[in-house]
Amino acid sequence: MNVILLGAPGAGKGTQAKELAARRGLVQLSTGDMLRGAVKAGTEIGKKAKAIMDRGDLVPDEVVVGIISERIDQPDCANGVILDGFPRTLEQASALDRVLTEKRKKLDAVIELKVDDSKLIERIVGRFTCAKCGEGYHDRFKRPQVRGVCDVCESTEFTRRPDDNAETVTRRLMVYYRETSPLIGYYYCKGNLKSVDGMAEIPDVLASLEAALDARK
Ligand code: AP5
Ligand code: MG
Repeated sequence: MNVILLGAPGAGKGTQAKELAARRGLVQLSTGDMLRGAVKAGTEIGKKAKAIMDRGDLVPDEVVVGIISERIDQPDCANGVILDGFPRTLEQASALDRVLTEKRKKLDAVIELKVDDSKLIERIVGRFTCAKCGEGYHDRFKRPQVRGVCDVCESTEFTRRPDDNAETVTRRLMVYYRETSPLIGYYYCKGNLKSVDGMAEIPDVLASLEAALDARK
């Protein structure tokens, strides 16, 4: 099953994609995580992407399409993927259609996570991540059970994304409305869009997503 999770910055795509992928034997493909990996590794793509990401703009379409096209071919993706943060422009959406057709795969569902703008900013500025295993947390909404210790790997080191500050968040939201929100209409017209209330508590959003995926069978 191949699924797209659509949603604004901070809507909960990463949080939900990780859990859904684990429950359904799928692979989470987050272009944001892959690009951050490239920045950290100092690759050519990473060097070009860093400044663009830091200011909250989009990395060129051909770069992310190339990354996804290559990754989706790997054997662990045979059972299906959850696309988190891709596609993000109409050009990327058409390229994805072409890539899937060429690879004889299909898109099974597109689910939009709906969250109010004021909530998005609150979620992003409070986000932090375990530096060792990447588990995501929030200052208010998802704290580690023991303060300062990761629930998953017990590391005591955490990081915050350089683009998770109030100014860049506003820019990312503007880019979302201009470039990515037209995809809601695109997938609605293709007949595979579903919407889920992303304002609920994390486990409740997960339950709604599971129900939306089951309902399409
Ligand atoms: P990316 O990493 O994709 O960032 P984003 O889209 O801005 O989304 P986020 O990762 O910020 O939010 P999320 O929806 O994953 O929320 P999360 O689950 O973490 O992209 C970063 C950059 O890379 C882009 O700006 C661009 O430059 C580049 N890029 C990436 N893909 C690209 C592409 N396809 N094309 C071009 N450029 C690309 O949740 C946020 C916080 O809220 C967490 O702390 C979490 O614990 C908390 N939370 C989650 N759900 C809930 C809930 N239900 N209730 C309360 N708190 C919650
Ligand atoms: Mg994310």
